[in-house]
Amino acid sequence: MLGNVQQPSPELAEHEKVSDQVKITQKDLEQDGFSKNPFFHGIIAEVPEHLKSRDGHTKVGYSLYFYTYSSWKGRAVYMEDLYVMPEFRGKGIGKALMSKVSQLGLAAGCTQLNFTVLDWNKSSLDFYLKQGCWDVTSDLGYHCMRCEGDALENLAQGDL
Ligand SMILES: CC(C)(COP(=O)(O)OP(=O)(O)OC[C@H]1O[C@@H](n2cnc3c(N)ncnc32)[C@H](O)[C@@H]1OP(=O)(O)O)[C@@H](O)C(=O)NCCC(=O)NCCS
Repeated sequence: MLGNVQQPSPELAEHEKVSDQVKITQKDLEQDGFSKNPFFHGIIAEVPEHLKSRDGHTKVGYSLYFYTYSSWKGRAVYMEDLYVMPEFRGKGIGKALMSKVSQLGLAAGCTQLNFTVLDWNKSSLDFYLKQGCWDVTSDLGYHCMRCEGDALENLAQGDL
């Protein structure tokens, strides 16, 4: 069953070995995902009570996404997170979550689903290739760029 997400899991950050970079709070998530004009949307994968995880969870996967825009192709959906708990992998849940995000994107008029994957995450890269996705970094040479912290402040102030 796919429902609405309330809080992304820190397990994905642990899996990607970047737990130290998680600064967000539950309050931020509630404000940014559940206000009148949300910054993000999310869906969760939920299993029936009798199939719950060893730790007693019934919410076993999620995807967090938001809408972006391409000046070449128009509306696009960006999938920020896709995660399935280890003991529930290989059962079609990741594919179902990604399929649902694609359905929602198409229904909103999007022509692209974009996301990034870490270079060492070969298993997920293979999963995405199997879903018909392609690697724009290797094929088109795109690099993901970022500006944050002091650099962002300086940029905003025109103080380089
Ligand atoms: C990537 C992830 C979401 C896949 O979810 P999943 O529920 O295990 O995948 P599914 O069972 O839905 O697999 C769907 C299809 O992909 C295939 N597949 C799954 N993992 C695969 C892999 N590593 N390589 C190739 N194919 C794979 C399955 O065989 C299945 O094929 P089928 O449709 O022909 O039966 C899950 O492994 C995960 O949460 N990984 C850790 C978090 C992560 O790395 N997320 C991505 C961050 S960018």
